[in-house]
Amino acid sequence: MTKIQHNLYISFFVITGIIALVSILYFGFDYYSTPIEERFFNSAHTELKPNGIIGHGLGIIGSLMMLLGVATYMIRKRIKKFTRIGVLKHWLEFHIFLCSVGPMLVLFHTAFKFGGIVAISFWSMVAVVASGVIGRFIYIQIPRTIQGSELSLTEIKQENQAYTNKLRSDYKLSESIISEVENIVNIEHIKEINFKQLIPFYFKELFNNRKKLGNLKSNLSAGNVNHENINSILKISRKKILLARRISMLRIMQKLFKYWHVAHLPFAIVMLVIMLVHVGVAIAFGYTWIF
Ligand code: HEM
Ligand code: HEM
Repeated sequence: MTKIQHNLYISFFVITGIIALVSILYFGFDYYSTPIEERFFNSAHTELKPNGIIGHGLGIIGSLMMLLGVATYMIRKRIKKFTRIGVLKHWLEFHIFLCSVGPMLVLFHTAFKFGGIVAISFWSMVAVVASGVIGRFIYIQIPRTIQGSELSLTEIKQENQAYTNKLRSDYKLSESIISEVENIVNIEHIKEINFKQLIPFYFKELFNNRKKLGNLKSNLSAGNVNHENINSILKISRKKILLARRISMLRIMQKLFKYWHVAHLPFAIVMLVIMLVHVGVAIAFGYTWIF
């Protein structure tokens, strides 16, 4: 997938999610904002209640989206036969799309009434979505190949070296500028941080690096490097800084990501099991939607 194709792929997901949300709110805002006791008298009640034609449909479509989002990602990631189909990172993006829009549809299916044992499924769904957002943040802190597998420390250092080589070969920079960039990210002297240091480190780095990049920009301008090249050099320097920051946090992020799986997966299982019971009960009570 080229960069443009990837942007279109992500835009499609974002636009679909927004259209779904806006359409539901357009047709249902009045209903969903009516107090539960008065909804019976609302003209949209027949369609939008959890067993109404639209409300029930939202539950079914949302649940199917989540099932598809989980199944495709798990199959692609865990079954060897499928490891060659597409790039894992793109399958994760597909997972995130289906497993964000799906829960949103289920939320409207419940019509904001969270009663009965199925409420456990609902709150597990909320927990899995919230943990997903945290997991996604941790996931992107761990440097990966395009395929999505984790890079080793040696490979990260090689990537950093490749950026330095690019600076040398493409921009004909003086050794003093090169060493200034290298000093911003002295990769050989990076200290690994522990869990307690994580949050202060993250913010301190953001602040310090912005300052160092500002200095580098002034030095490049003073060294008569042209404007276009300055932007490209700063872009590469930013990538080097990001790599250095990720090296410092690598062990802790790998550990956090391992613990994180322990939370994300069980919530997903609880949600799915109770959802199946809920669907079984609904069918037993004769709620078969359009079938
Ligand atoms: C994770 C997915 C789902 C969650 C969290 C969920 C949650 C809920 C909630 C909270 C209610 C309202 C309960 C109340 O009135 O107090 C409800 C009602 C209902 N749901 Fe679901 N639902 C899900 C999926 C489904 C699916 C896939 C179906 C259809 C096969 C379905 C069919 C129904 C029906 C028919 C009702 C109305 C039941 C009645 O009025 O007695 N739900 N659901
Ligand atoms: C109802 C919603 C969701 C369900 C049921 C769900 C379920 C799952 C499952 C079963 C896995 C595989 C875990 C494993 O390989 O051990 C997974 C992985 C993952 N999910 Fe979700 N998820 C949901 C929503 C989300 C959301 C909203 C995000 C991000 C915003 C997200 C981000 C991730 C990430 C980053 C991984 C890990 C990928 C990896 O380790 O390869 N998930 N999810």
